[in-house]
Amino acid sequence: MAFLKLFFLFLAALVGLLSAGPPRKVAIIGAGVIGTSTALALKERDPTIDVTVFFDRPFEETVSWGPAGLFRLDNGKYRKWGHESYKRFSKIFKEYGGFSGVQRLSGYVLSKNVTNLFLQQINYGDFAYDFHFLRPHELEQFPFEADEIYGLHFTSFTTEGRAYVPWMSEILEEKYNVTFKQRKIKNVDELIDSFDVIVNCAGLNGGIVANDGDAANVYPIRGVIAEVDAPWQKHFMYLDFSTFTFPTINTVFMGTVKQEHRSDLKITREDIEDIQERYLKLQPAFKNVTIKSTWSGLRPGRHEIRLERVELQKSKTKIIHNYGHGGNGFTLSWGCALEAVNLAFK
Ligand SMILES: Cc1cc2nc3c(=O)[nH]c(=O)nc-3n(C[C@H](O)[C@H](O)[C@H](O)COP(=O)(O)OP(=O)(O)OC[C@H]3O[C@@H](n4cnc5c(N)ncnc54)[C@H](O)[C@@H]3O)c2cc1C
Ligand SMILES: *[C@@H]1O[C@H](CO)[C@@H](O)[C@H](O)[C@H]1NC(C)=O
Ligand SMILES: *[C@@H]1O[C@H](CO)[C@@H](O)[C@H](O)[C@H]1NC(C)=O
Ligand SMILES: *[C@@H]1O[C@H](CO)[C@@H](O)[C@H](O)[C@H]1NC(C)=O
Repeated sequence: MAFLKLFFLFLAALVGLLSAGPPRKVAIIGAGVIGTSTALALKERDPTIDVTVFFDRPFEETVSWGPAGLFRLDNGKYRKWGHESYKRFSKIFKEYGGFSGVQRLSGYVLSKNVTNLFLQQINYGDFAYDFHFLRPHELEQFPFEADEIYGLHFTSFTTEGRAYVPWMSEILEEKYNVTFKQRKIKNVDELIDSFDVIVNCAGLNGGIVANDGDAANVYPIRGVIAEVDAPWQKHFMYLDFSTFTFPTINTVFMGTVKQEHRSDLKITREDIEDIQERYLKLQPAFKNVTIKSTWSGLRPGRHEIRLERVELQKSKTKIIHNYGHGGNGFTLSWGCALEAVNLAFK
């Protein structure tokens, strides 16, 4: 009798261990760059996991569609995630070239404030290729007095939303049999008990989908970029951190504005004049460059990225939040995806 009791205890422990093992069925809410990267990182870790990706609007209407997705990092706190992404983009470019939507691209960041450039160096200067501070003669390329400007050069990657995200989605569908379902999820509770793990990658809606009071912490940061006719522009150029041009695979983008708590998407003449006026200080030759199209989007702002796992009293389902990436969703996408996967397997 005692033996039988012991045996059942052993069995119960085994079942407990098994159910705490790797997830078998995962829901990802969001098919922007964050949700898609998270789905791909999960499948690369374990192709046998059953993954469903939910989205509530066509990809063209998400903020992940528009950006050139230049890799650059202002917040040193996210260094590790940035480094993981950089290595990933380098590997993808080596293996697939521009077919992946990823492009290797060198360029310059200029600033009158050298402290800001040292901070850039701390954030990625040791792993980004070809990183160096500009020597005086290299500053001759730009329309500033030699003693009023500082600059750095490095090799980066663009991960163009409209090419890179569909490239990942296709791998998910074709190679990994991942299902994409258009369905608005009111909040995570709706999927609890139907999945082992739910990853909330709902961007600007992340707080609403979390349904735990975080909605108040998530806010829009309005951005605008213009596609310009300047095919001779072959480097990215930054003056400080919101005035730039980036050449992507087939075009050149000029930007931007960062307007917190503003969510109107209509692009005004003021937006474009403001961007042009700032950019001309960096490259006056752009005076006669024509604008081919414009695009605006809302970055999912939060005081910090929410990337954590939440355990529930009422269910075994684990919730992982991965949202609030602000202006760095592409830069941090792969590092955050790997972290989310680690949390799913913990
Ligand atoms: C002008 C501009 C320039 C930028 N440039 C750069 C750059 O150079 N580099 C960089 O790293 N970042 C850049 N960004 C920031 C980047 O665009 C964002 O950080 C990133 O796209 C956020 O991705 P996401 O997947 O979190 O959100 P989104 O792309 O918004 O995706 C959210 C997903 O969640 C789904 N969803 C939302 N709510 C629900 C719901 N209730 N039910 C089901 N599905 C739901 C949506 O359908 C969508 O699929 C730029 C942004 C702008 C506006
Ligand atoms: C330069 O940048 C640093 C760091 O962002 C800031 O603390 C400092 O006030 C800036 N200096 C000037 C002169 O703007
Ligand atoms: C693909 O996924 C669907 C839905 O989860 C499943 O029914 C089907 O068996 C899977 N096919 C393969 C080849 O794994
Ligand atoms: C822009 O075009 C005008 C009119 O054709 C010309 O006079 C001017 O020199 C051009 N400026 C630049 C910077 O190319």
